[in-house]
Amino acid sequence: MAILELNKVRKTFGAGRTQVEAMKQTNFRAEKGELIAIIGPSGSGKSTFLTIAGGLQTPTEGEVVINGAPMTRLKEKKRAKLRLKEVGFVLQASNLVPFLNIQQQMQLLDKVKKDNMKQEEAQQLYQSLGIEHLLGHFPKDLSGGERQRVAIAKALYTNPSVILADEPTASLDSDRAFEVMDMIKGITKEKQTATIVVTHDTRLIDDCDKVYQITDGEMTHQ
Ligand SMILES: Nc1ncnc2c1ncn2[C@@H]1O[C@H](COP(=O)(O)OP(=O)(O)O)[C@@H](O)[C@H]1O
Ligand SMILES: [Mg+2]
Repeated sequence: MAILELNKVRKTFGAGRTQVEAMKQTNFRAEKGELIAIIGPSGSGKSTFLTIAGGLQTPTEGEVVINGAPMTRLKEKKRAKLRLKEVGFVLQASNLVPFLNIQQQMQLLDKVKKDNMKQEEAQQLYQSLGIEHLLGHFPKDLSGGERQRVAIAKALYTNPSVILADEPTASLDSDRAFEVMDMIKGITKEKQTATIVVTHDTRLIDDCDKVYQITDGEMTHQ
């Protein structure tokens, strides 16, 4: 069974002459354990796709199904719950809470959701991301790359079934970008998540199971 399904999904913004079709009618599935890359130029609709797939935005038409649940048909409150349970987001706009240190951000996740990583596993995650020494720091004291790695830790900590990452390696140096991509791949295979990574960096797509290109809101399999 597909963990993530988009059925005849379309998204437009605006109306009349200024209407933008950010996503043309799209059918898409992601299976357990699949690492999928999405590439495409700026403004082509990659972020729109990812945020609709994860239920942060609703489509104009069509439906999104996550782990059998009809995301699109749920009211906002239930949709938020489903998102919290199933989806790990790594978004371009950082998902860090400015007034909590990193450790506190993780503890907050334990307050809102059960079945997160156990202490030992979380410790391993921090180590492989190289952020174990940053747990007492606040987001403002971190570099761009450190913030990005913490954002990745937050997304993975909740043991999501779907991981959606928008340019997760954008502010990392080359070595770190490969390391992070390896780690995302490792988690995808080990935990059998469906993982979708938007990237500009075509060096990072070699390891992916599938690659899609988006051009002007239209998705094609490479
Ligand atoms: N909230 C919005 N309101 C109006 N237009 C939008 C909005 N979000 C995205 N768009 C438009 O939809 C298209 C796709 O945007 P986006 O998904 O952000 O592309 P990408 O992530 O590939 O750079 C662009 O033309 C963008 O201007
Ligand atoms: Mg984008």
